[in-house]
Order: sequence, then C-alpha cells, then structure tokens
Amino acid sequence: MVPYWKESFGNPHSSEHIVGWKANEAVEKAQETVAQLIGADTDEIVFTSGATEANNLALIGMAPSISARPRVAVSPIEHKCVLASARTIRDKLGFEVERLRVDPTGVVDFEHLEAILSKGISICSVGAVNNEIGTIQDIERISEACRRHGTLFHCDAAQAPVALDITALARSADLISLSAHKMYGPMGIGALFVRRELQGQIVPGIVGGGQQNNIRSGTLPLPLVVGFGAAAEQLTRPDAHEERERVAMLRNRLANEVLALDDGFTLNGPSFQNRHPGNLNVCFRGFDAQDILASLQPKLAASSGSACTSGIPEPSHVLRAIGLDAEDAEASVRFSIGRLTNADEIISATELIADTIEKLR
Ligand SMILES: Cc1ncc(COP(=O)(O)O)c(C=O)c1O
Repeated sequence: MVPYWKESFGNPHSSEHIVGWKANEAVEKAQETVAQLIGADTDEIVFTSGATEANNLALIGMAPSISARPRVAVSPIEHKCVLASARTIRDKLGFEVERLRVDPTGVVDFEHLEAILSKGISICSVGAVNNEIGTIQDIERISEACRRHGTLFHCDAAQAPVALDITALARSADLISLSAHKMYGPMGIGALFVRRELQGQIVPGIVGGGQQNNIRSGTLPLPLVVGFGAAAEQLTRPDAHEERERVAMLRNRLANEVLALDDGFTLNGPSFQNRHPGNLNVCFRGFDAQDILASLQPKLAASSGSACTSGIPEPSHVLRAIGLDAEDAEASVRFSIGRLTNADEIISATELIADTIEKLR
C-alpha cells in the first residue's frame, strides 16, 4: 500500500494520462484478486467503504426494482447493518420483513426457510459466517432454495474469507458483501459482488461522477484498494487452509481451558467443526461480562456482543436469538484468535482468565 500513498497516487479514474492509467492498472489487479476470492468475474466487483455500505447497497439498492414482491427475509443473527437495511426498505418502500428461524447454534432452519420462501420473497439475506458466534451456514443449500423460489440471494460474507474457502460462492449468491478489515486488509474498504445481470437494476446509494459502472460514484481510495487486493491474494493461496487449522487448534485449546474453569461455563454457538476457526464465545454464567472485560485490561482485548455495538448497553441480539436469556447474554464474552496469535499467548490468556475468574469469585 505504501507506494500508492507516497509515489503512485494518481487518480484511477483519470483516463487521459499515464499516472491515471497506472493507478487504474493497480485497481484492476486488486479487483481481479478480490473476484478470484469468491469465484466472480472482475467486472462484478464494486468497491465500497466496507461491508456496512455493501450490505446497504445490496438491500436498499435492489429494493426499488423488486418491489413488485415487497418481502425480504433475513436471519435474526445478521449483522445490525443488514437488519437496519431491511428495516429501511420496510419503512421507505413498504416491504414486509420476514425473520428466518435459527437453531440454538445459529444455523438457519431449512423447513422454516422453505415455508417463508413459499410466501413469495423477493430477496433473502443470510450471512455466511456469523461475527459473534462463528456459525457457518450451509450457503449452497440456502441459495438453492432461493433459486427454486425465484428469490434473489444476498450473502454477507464479511467473516467468511478467513474462516473457509469461498472460491465458489459467486456461483451460489447473487450479491455478496466483503470487508477488507475482516480479512487482514485495511479498514475503510470493502466490496459488493453484483451478478452481471443485476447491475442495471441496482440503484446507487452514492451518486456523482458515475464511477464503477454508475453503481457507486466517488474516487476509489487507491492504497486501500491495493491493500484489499493483497489481503485477498493471501487468502487464496493453497496454504490458507493450514493457517485456518493452526488458528482453530489454538482456539480449541483456549476454549477447553476456559470451559474447564467452572461447571457453569458453556460455549455459545456451534461446535468447533461448524465454526469460524478464530471465534470463541463463552457464557461465564453467574458473572458479568463487563467485570471480566474490565479486569482483563490492559492485557487481553475481548468483547461482549459485537464490537460494532459495544458501548450500547443492551445484550447481544445474536445471543438472544439463539435462546440465551438476558442474564446469560450479559455474562458472555467473545474472544478472537487470529493469524498473529501464538501458543504462548494462549497460555498467558488462559492464566489471565483463570486469575480474573478467581478474583471475581
Ligand atoms: C458479518 C459482518 N457484516 C458486516 C460488518 C460491517 O463491516 P464494515 O466494518 O466493513 O462496515 C461486519 C464487521 O463488523 C461483520 O462482521
């Protein structure tokens, strides 16, 4: 990214000079690697400021052209930006919002999905991997059901690239949201995959100079685009799965140690096999998550609910949707393990959590 701040800072949309051409070349290369990450074509990738904007563009942008069937279906464990987008098309365009049922591990209930789809749904949005409890959905099966019912399928895949191989995702979904900073890229950049046939139907959220095929105006932030491309490139390498296995092993070790601290402590969400390798969400029954988090400072960073809602004093909507009562939801902490975590840090974290629990007891 650095050379694109310091030296090659041309405008990728300037088509009349060499500086612009070079910048545009870098954009096209990044677009190609992001497209490869999900098995799309280069011209189906629209860069946005992140997954929040991509999710808004997918639902709010598609809604006007599908309003003949004004019904949208979402799972109750979607990120708040998906839920808010669904509410927006309800309030502005009169869409009905159908909430899909999920089981106690967060997996979409297929019988209920079929029943909802048979009501006539124009667009259905389900995230590939949940950001709070790590649930991995059977996206192929969901998309197959949507296709059978003539329903567009949008997939928020912000958490997916680190968790699993999604190189075939564009074959299943019509719209896919990505976020660079959830896959070791920079903050402030993401993308929406828009299937080519739908590109003329999407109403832009940002209008102006007509960049990016008129779907999202504004000058592209070249260094961020390049960083996003580099992050995508790393995750499409053949050894990406080895990293997932290594991270999962560390996560499992931390989980087993923490759960063994007290009979009342439980794992929120799915089993290790059907879960984002770096996600651990534990209910410290009988404790207050805020006390635990405060006592872990400044040595260990963890969160209650999702990071985007930290600070808002309400229990996680995801934990409530999988059946936790308010008290258990407020006793839950999410730990994230990643590429940079090592085995020594897992040992230190385990000791720190054990000391904290002992102290709070
Ligand atoms: C599943 C999911 N969707 C959407 C978002 C929002 O992404 P961004 O921060 O790029 O706007 C996030 C990140 O917080 C996420 O985890």
